[in-house]
Amino acid sequence: TVQPLLAGKTLTITAGPTREALDPVRYISNHSSGKMGYALAAAGVAMGATVNLISGPVNLPTPVGVTRINVQSAQQMHQQALALAPSSDIFIGCAAVADYRAADIAEQKMKKQGDELTLTLVKNPDIIADVAALSENRPFTVGFAAETQDVATYAQGKLKNKKLDMICANDVSVQGQGFNSDNNALTLFSHDSTQSIALMKKDKLALTVIEAIATKLV
Ligand code: PMT
Repeated sequence: TVQPLLAGKTLTITAGPTREALDPVRYISNHSSGKMGYALAAAGVAMGATVNLISGPVNLPTPVGVTRINVQSAQQMHQQALALAPSSDIFIGCAAVADYRAADIAEQKMKKQGDELTLTLVKNPDIIADVAALSENRPFTVGFAAETQDVATYAQGKLKNKKLDMICANDVSVQGQGFNSDNNALTLFSHDSTQSIALMKKDKLALTVIEAIATKLV
């Protein structure tokens, strides 16, 4: 049985990839399936929270009891996240947000040209850094770090630079975990603790992550 550790709390989670349009039929994206973020949303409901799930395009059913807000681009996700964060007790950024988008989205389908094509990309807003920077009604802010090398160093760098309260680091270079897998392993870094969670199903892992967050709230 799961304890109602988050009764009366509001939890907002981002999940899945973002899609950055190039033209009406093409986009830049990544391999996030949404499974990790959706598992966190279900775990939040199981622990008694009111849960908002801001979701990029994924092929998953909405967990029972969750309010889902669909978005495509990082800019849309940013807008919804900043709208919901101030009324949330906890914000978890599990989405794999594109760091860059096309400087211009072509209005018509781009025509095949010469042998090379150069795209100009511009930086997207950093959603979780903007949530963590809220001066009023700032939620407890938890990020994820997807790394392929020096996992602890890069994750702790993101914890500090984005001014987060906690970061959940996954090594996405290991087969059978991370992007699009049913399983994952994480190390949770906060400013005063480190907790490693071994490889397991994302739904079980999500309960452990939410429990770790709930412990920090009190
Ligand atoms: O969706 P699944 O297939 O289940 O896979 C899960 C996952 C691997 C996507 C997930 O566990 C994960 O690691 N999510 C974060 C992926 C990521 O984009 O990490 P990052 O290290 O690039 O970003 C660090 C943090 O900043 C993340 O909390 C991210 O949401 C946030 N970010 C990044 C860029 C940006 N412009 N805005 C952000 O808020």
